[in-house]
Amino acid sequence: MARTLMILNGPNLNLLGTREPEIYGHETLADIEAMCAKTAREHGLTIDFRQSNHEGELIDWVQEARNGFAAIIINPAAYTHTSIALHDALKAVSIPVIEVHISDPKSREAFRHVSYVEPAAARSIAGKGAAGYAEAVAVAAKLI
Ligand code: DQA
Repeated sequence: MARTLMILNGPNLNLLGTREPEIYGHETLADIEAMCAKTAREHGLTIDFRQSNHEGELIDWVQEARNGFAAIIINPAAYTHTSIALHDALKAVSIPVIEVHISDPKSREAFRHVSYVEPAAARSIAGKGAAGYAEAVAVAAKLI
């Protein structure tokens, strides 16, 4: 059985730590990766942690996850609110999908209130800061 979680991060998340810290906190993406790896280890899992600023690359990775991966955890960042293509790609996988956001988009600007990813996800975690990623790993461990 596959024991690796694919953890995908969308545009601008490479800037975490310096990007709007009052909204996204001071943890870097590397800090979040280390936290995910630790939580995964505690559940006997490993992670493959990636970030891209490009919609098509994220879609390629979702398609790749169909073989050999146990679940997908994804923070699609702004593509959450725009990408029907990402929605379609996530609907095409049979492994669990968990959506995660550092902030709570539904309590921010109106243009963040729609998530095209949520209907394709088994669980959505938002507004818990970087800790939401660790929770997503624990949820994935339960679902697989
Ligand atoms: C985000 C929320 C999105 O609305 C935003 O575009 C992001 C980050 C979050 O993690 O809170 O880039 O996904």
